[in-house]
Amino acid sequence: MLEIRDLSAAYGESQVLWDVSLDVPDGGVVCLMGRNGVGKTTLLKAVMGLLPARSGRIAFDGVELRGRRPEERVVRGIGYVPQGREIFPNLTVAENLRVGHMGRRRGGPGERGAAAERELDQAFDLFPKLKSLLGRRGGVLSGGEQQQLAIARVLLASPRLLLLDEPTEGIQPSVILQIEEAIQRIKERGIAVLLVEQYLEFAWRVADSYAIMRKGTIVSRGATADLRHDAVREHLTV
Ligand SMILES: Nc1ncnc2c1ncn2[C@@H]1O[C@H](COP(=O)(O)OP(=O)(O)OP(=O)(O)O)[C@@H](O)[C@H]1O
Ligand SMILES: [Mg+2]
Repeated sequence: MLEIRDLSAAYGESQVLWDVSLDVPDGGVVCLMGRNGVGKTTLLKAVMGLLPARSGRIAFDGVELRGRRPEERVVRGIGYVPQGREIFPNLTVAENLRVGHMGRRRGGPGERGAAAERELDQAFDLFPKLKSLLGRRGGVLSGGEQQQLAIARVLLASPRLLLLDEPTEGIQPSVILQIEEAIQRIKERGIAVLLVEQYLEFAWRVADSYAIMRKGTIVSRGATADLRHDAVREHLTV
């Protein structure tokens, strides 16, 4: 589904990604791990087109994404939940969700409306708490609630691939469990996930495969079940 090959990217003169190759198969959950500052967020930004790639390829369903605008990548079926969540603090939960509908891909207006209703129900099904918070402004929600809102909002655009950047960062354990359950169910719906995560136990439970990044390049990858403690020690722990 997503095929990244020999991707390099830089902020101005400073190169951050070096020949990164990574695949996310249809319906698979891949966890990208690595210490702070190695380039995980930068890779997601490059996939979204928020940072131009310098060389290499990013193919989605066989279509080259390089040179295409972020909006077009959304329309093609890629959803992005950035690190730190970035919901609209001054909009209510309901309004934040309505913004999510705007990125919907298929169908005419009537069809879109019906599908959007269905997806809103599915979003409440994943995160029931949001239903009771509809009138509240995003900015006053807890970190966990904001994360749930951010994921729900992106799902309303019915992506086939979800990019999730550190969804457990700064979130209390009970809410982490809810997010974990939500990812399991997102997966059951056939949506593929590229998850950036430093919380190992969480990654272990939700991902099928992993890739470890170090200094802007992938240094280890495989099935999560085979993720070895020595690799974790070498590349992840400080
Ligand atoms: N907008 C920017 N301009 C210049 N350099 C940047 C910019 N954003 C990130 N960098 C640098 O690029 C490198 C990779 O950053 P990135 O945010 O991708 O790391 P990360 O792996 O996501 O880290 P973390 O785990 O802390 O989120 C870092 O050295 C960072 O300082
Ligand atoms: Mg990051």
